[in-house]
Amino acid sequence: MSVSRFPNGFIWGSATASYQIEGAVAEDGRAPSIWDTFSHTPGKTVNGDTGDVACDHYHRWQGDVQLMRELGLQGYRFSIAWPRVVPEGTGQVNARGLDFYDRLVDALLEANITPLVTLYHWDLPQVQQDRGGWANRDTADAFVAYTDAVVRRLGDRVKHWITHNEPWVVSFVGNYEGRHAPGIQDLRTALQVAHHLLLSHGMAVPAIRAGSAGAQVGITLNLSPGRPASASPEDRAAARVCDGYTNRWFLDPLYGKGYPEDMVARFGAAMPQINVDDLAHAAVPTDFLGVNYYFPTIVRAAASGHEPLGFLALSPEELAAAGHELTAMGWPIVPDAFTELLTRLHRDYAPKTIYVTENGAAFDDKVVGGGVHDPRRIAYLHSHIGAVRQAIADGAPVGGYFLWSLMDNFEWAYGYSKRFGIVYIDYATQARIPKDSAAWYRRVIAANAFVDAGQL
Ligand code: FCB
Repeated sequence: MSVSRFPNGFIWGSATASYQIEGAVAEDGRAPSIWDTFSHTPGKTVNGDTGDVACDHYHRWQGDVQLMRELGLQGYRFSIAWPRVVPEGTGQVNARGLDFYDRLVDALLEANITPLVTLYHWDLPQVQQDRGGWANRDTADAFVAYTDAVVRRLGDRVKHWITHNEPWVVSFVGNYEGRHAPGIQDLRTALQVAHHLLLSHGMAVPAIRAGSAGAQVGITLNLSPGRPASASPEDRAAARVCDGYTNRWFLDPLYGKGYPEDMVARFGAAMPQINVDDLAHAAVPTDFLGVNYYFPTIVRAAASGHEPLGFLALSPEELAAAGHELTAMGWPIVPDAFTELLTRLHRDYAPKTIYVTENGAAFDDKVVGGGVHDPRRIAYLHSHIGAVRQAIADGAPVGGYFLWSLMDNFEWAYGYSKRFGIVYIDYATQARIPKDSAAWYRRVIAANAFVDAGQL
């Protein structure tokens, strides 16, 4: 048996996001977000699912904190809903919206669970979208004002802050592919959105520091190594473009390198409006980088018709044919790509600390005899936690791991059809049923160690 301890002080946690779990969309002064609009638009989500009720966490948060306590969680990453706090996007602060998070933070601290707060996990107030959303530079100012309101209220107790969750998804899935809210399909808009997200991150960091003494502040990116489907020079070049699009487009400006030249050349006329100090703002020093890792993107060169990127990600069918094991999302399970990613971040960008702010997997879980047996999730988590341990051994400064997700929830365009939780949600009754993986994770946390399969 081999046991590898994690460093002392390593934080074991789980993660969620406001629109995915809270429900109560019209309570205590919350206004609609772009995800309310999008999910209520026919054809945008599987089964027409919406976040109207979700896990009803807004009413059941006390029981949920108790669940976290039973799991032995040391950290909990959640997000704040901007439309609860500043329902009109700008202006008036809604104290009742903040009250909810205030109580939640106190309950977490009481349970000895460190709160990590994400300020923007995709639920932009709809009125702000009506003013142009993130494509409008004013939204960066609005974000800073909202951030300021949150930090003034919670900054004495919350000491870990994440400005944005996955700006790549916000920009490109929301505004280029159109599969997420607000459902726009325009590359120039997407690049302008990406730019304003980076700018607003840079503007928010000093505001957070001013209101939360001694806080650690960072941003969370979804990062995915680009891997070529074959050794051909064309596929290798495609993997490099994929890396530029998914990873370097955000990492390079955040770490003071500006936008990557190869991608600037590709984007050409779609490049956004950039003001003179913007990239200096984006490169503001931070305390940590949040990394969401699920899978590598395996790509091949595409024939014409796929400009300006010129690559295609393999479909789930192609991945399966190539021998990859897939999750219910059709994502390939490749833990060594996680080690490669973490060590590369350390080498190329040298963040002071890396927190794994999301990692996990969806499978088609069923309740059987009152329990949920999810050996494939345990295997996924086991191999990926092992990959993190390896990266630490290789020198990457990983300080914590936040499993996605605490509980099954509204998986965006997939609605409730995909289950990522270690706690099962019976949406008809809102019963919470810890899966086998929850008991397994509790033992990992208690041991603060990566233990060979079968030993826990
Ligand atoms: C990430 C999101 C998170 C969740 C997981 C599965 O892209 O940040 O909200 O949906 O994927």
